This record gives sequence, structure tokens and C-alpha cells, in this order.
Amino acid sequence: MKKIEKKYRILILGASGYLGNAIYKELCMYFNTYGTYFSPKKEFENNKHFFHYNVEEDDIYEILEATKPDIIISALRGDFHAQTIAHAHIAEYALEHGSKIIFLSSANAFDAYSKYPSYETDKTLSHSIYGHFKIKIENMLMRMPKRQVAILRLPMVFGANCPRIQEIKQLISEKEAVEIFPNLIMNVTLDKKVTQQIHYIINRKKSGVFHLGSTDLVHHDEFIQQIISNITQTKVSLKQVYTTNEDRYLAVLPKYNILPKHLQITSDIVLKELQK
Ligand SMILES: NC(=O)c1ccc[n+]([C@@H]2O[C@H](COP(=O)([O-])OP(=O)(O)OC[C@H]3O[C@@H](n4cnc5c(N)ncnc54)[C@H](OP(=O)(O)O)[C@@H]3O)[C@@H](O)[C@H]2O)c1
Repeated sequence: MKKIEKKYRILILGASGYLGNAIYKELCMYFNTYGTYFSPKKEFENNKHFFHYNVEEDDIYEILEATKPDIIISALRGDFHAQTIAHAHIAEYALEHGSKIIFLSSANAFDAYSKYPSYETDKTLSHSIYGHFKIKIENMLMRMPKRQVAILRLPMVFGANCPRIQEIKQLISEKEAVEIFPNLIMNVTLDKKVTQQIHYIINRKKSGVFHLGSTDLVHHDEFIQQIISNITQTKVSLKQVYTTNEDRYLAVLPKYNILPKHLQITSDIVLKELQK
């Protein structure tokens, strides 16, 4: 029988969302796992491990006091200013109680650099509001003791019927164009690989900055067209979006904080999984 090791109390902020919920499902068998949701939904309202939370109105401290987490995983979206305040409170709580924070950041922390892919120790710089916000939280967390923080920089995450694929299916069914970015070179990953990576980071008490993208790079247009060809054989209208004349990288490659081989991924594996 599988050993159940409920040794940590874990709170996932945004546990009703795409990634937060996948992480909840991965961890809840093994740990005392709690989560927050925002949009009213019976499934969460009836679950004693779920707490309603509105980042713009509620004090996260109350949920922290109620759940007493050893590990807080931040998988939130919502107003950036409110999220910044919430993360400051989370950091304060973590410092006081010795908890660990796992923050889902993004390749957008590097979106101002377009000429190269980015590695864990590279300086972050962003031209987007979203990227700026991620950098601000990262910098706040990096001031904490290193062992208490894991910053996970994610590229575009895919999975069977993930929101991105649902959106593509919707556009196809409405005979609308699907946007592709021919100049964009990126890496990608799978939701189920991200959840396994997080489980490993928790079990092995890993910390620091992780680049959780595939070890290879893909062109956005080719990758999306391969996904489309899995969905339909009929011709789909495409809208080519050129943001610059030159190739632009938005890729978070792992180099220094490497996970074991079975937790690494390539774009081929992502595509194969999506074909199932
Ligand atoms: N998905 C990706 O490809 C990707 C790539 C890079 C980084 N990330 C990062 O990963 C994290 C999770 O992304 P996701 O794609 O899983 O997002 P998502 O599906 O939109 O989930 C967002 C979560 O935040 C909650 N939320 C939204 N507005 C809120 C508010 N005002 N107050 C409190 N909670 C609120 C949602 O609650 P309800 O669902 O209950 O409304 C949901 O639980 C984000 O921080 C994102 O930046 C994601």
C-alpha cells in the first residue's frame, strides 16, 4: 500500500484555478492540503478544505491563521496591486512561522530581453505590466531566507483540455482565426509535469529559482499549428501576429537548478501527451 505521509500542511492560493487545482489534486493524497477559491462553485463550497478568498477584499492572514500552513503555494490571478499586498502579508507570516512559499512566476519576468533564452540567474527585466508584477513579487520573496522560498518560472503550460486548448477549440468551432506568433521562440510544459515537479520540490525540501520549461525550444506558430492538427483535419484560419521583425525569445531554460531526468521535459513529450 502507498505510504501516506501527511507531514506538511499546505495552503494553495488559487486552488480552484487551472494550475492550482492540478496541484491540489497531486498533493491532497499525501499532505494536509487546503486551498482558496474565488468564483462561487458548489464543489468548493461543500469542501471543508476550501476557503473563499477575494484578494481585493479579504485579509489573507485569516486563512493563514485558520490553516497554519508549513507551505504556501501561490497560484493566483487577480488585481496586481491587491496581490502585491497579499504576498507581503504571506511573506510576513512565513517569516514569523518558518513557512515556505512556492510562487508560480512566469517567463514574462524576462519579456524585455528578446535576443536570448533566459536562465535562472539572469537578471529579470520586463516591459509588460504582468512581467513587472511577477518581478516585484519575486524580488520581495528573494529577500527572505533562501530555504524558505521557491520561485518557479513557467512558460506556457499545456494539458488535455487546458484553457489554451479550450480557447483554440472554441475559435475553431466559431470559425474565428487562431492567433499565432511566427517570430516567437519559446519553451513549453505540461500541467502534469509541473505538479510532479512541485511534489518533488516539496519532498526534497528544494528552494531557489527553478526554470520549469522544456529543455528545447519551439516556434510558437509551428507548435500551435501542431496542436490544431490534433484537433481537426479541416482548414483553420490563422492570424499571424508580428510584434517585431526579428525572432524574439520568451523561454525559461533550466541550467543551474536542474531537476532529475524524469522530471525534465521536451516539447515532443508535451505534443505527444496532447495527442492522447
Ligand atoms: N497557465 C499558464 O500557462 C501559466 C504560465 C505562467 C505562469 N502562470 C501563473 O500560474 C498561476 C496560475 O495560473 P492559472 O493559469 O492556473 O490561472 P487560473 O486558471 O486563472 O486560476 C487563477 C486562480 O486565481 C483565483 N482568482 C482569480 N481572481 C481572484 C481574486 N480576485 N481573488 C482571489 N482569487 C482569485 C481563481 O479563482 P476562481 O477560479 O475561483 O475564480 C483561480 O483559483 C498564475 O499566477 C499565473 O501567473 C500560469
